[in-house]
Amino acid sequence: MSDIAVVGPGAIGATVAALLAHAGHTVTLCARTPVARLVIDAPDGRIEAAPPVWTDPAVARPVDWVLVCTKAYDIAGAAAWLTALIGPATRVAVLQNGVEHRARFAGLVAPERLVPVIVDIPAERVGPGQVTVHRYGALTAPDDDAGRAFAVLFADTPLDGRTSADWTTVAWRKLAINSCGIALTLIDRPFGAARQPGVAAALHTLAEECAAVGRAEGADLPPGLADEVVAYYRAQAPGLRNSLHNDLRAGRPLELDARDGVVVRMGERHGVPTPAHRLLIGLVEALATER
Ligand SMILES: NC(=O)c1ccc[n+]([C@@H]2O[C@H](COP(=O)([O-])OP(=O)(O)OC[C@H]3O[C@@H](n4cnc5c(N)ncnc54)[C@H](OP(=O)(O)O)[C@@H]3O)[C@@H](O)[C@H]2O)c1
Repeated sequence: MSDIAVVGPGAIGATVAALLAHAGHTVTLCARTPVARLVIDAPDGRIEAAPPVWTDPAVARPVDWVLVCTKAYDIAGAAAWLTALIGPATRVAVLQNGVEHRARFAGLVAPERLVPVIVDIPAERVGPGQVTVHRYGALTAPDDDAGRAFAVLFADTPLDGRTSADWTTVAWRKLAINSCGIALTLIDRPFGAARQPGVAAALHTLAEECAAVGRAEGADLPPGLADEVVAYYRAQAPGLRNSLHNDLRAGRPLELDARDGVVVRMGERHGVPTPAHRLLIGLVEALATER
């Protein structure tokens, strides 16, 4: 059993913390806002846990594993914990969206100790420490020593901790889905809008752009990926909104750079045009500034 610190007990952090604690690991929460108790409403019932909570990095100590579960833009906040939590053998897993997990923590964590993780667990924070998990999904790490050690942590949980020999492709597949959420955010419509041909065409264009950049980055993405992305959007519960959309509506900061800005930035590096992303980013930024 491992000694695990979860930095950022939000939707994902609270879920993995509660499940790892139930599996017998020693879990401590590193929180900005104190949480007394974790209450996870999952597909198979309610799971509760009350791990100890640190709210000040000054009281933290080195652990076996740090699981960084803040939003991608909260790097400075997460970094404040790392000095105290990292000892000679500590590994750091980054459970965030996007494809730049390693770049975000370069200089903060030694590359061989860092495990980038793609999260496929639809979960919503409904109150402090309270999360609704819509589906137990997968956490995918690269297939190396550290990635395999990460996956094993979840052996006795209902989550699918797994590794991939082609993590880059897994990451860009997920980004192709996430980067299109900007279209529904802009028109302020839930997933059901993807059933309209005009909206589906916009999603398709965005997914094509993202896939072209992903291929230039070395991802092995099939020619029909954009069709798959549109089918994914159409298959979601029609009333559900993507998290970028929810964050905009709630006036919270947006993971716009990690989900969409990255497509433009990496596109520039490879000479791959990304006009649709550029256009929509500018418009959503304007909306965010008005709120
Ligand atoms: N939720 C999903 O369904 C889902 C699915 C796939 C991927 N992801 C990705 O997973 C990552 C986490 O998302 P999430 O939905 O769990 O976000 P979230 O619910 O907003 O949780 C983020 C947590 O980080 C905490 N935090 C921020 N700064 C901190 C600091 N300095 N020290 C300690 N904690 C700090 C926040 O604290 P406060 O309580 O003070 O705000 C919050 O508890 C994101 O990259 C997201 O895109 C999420």
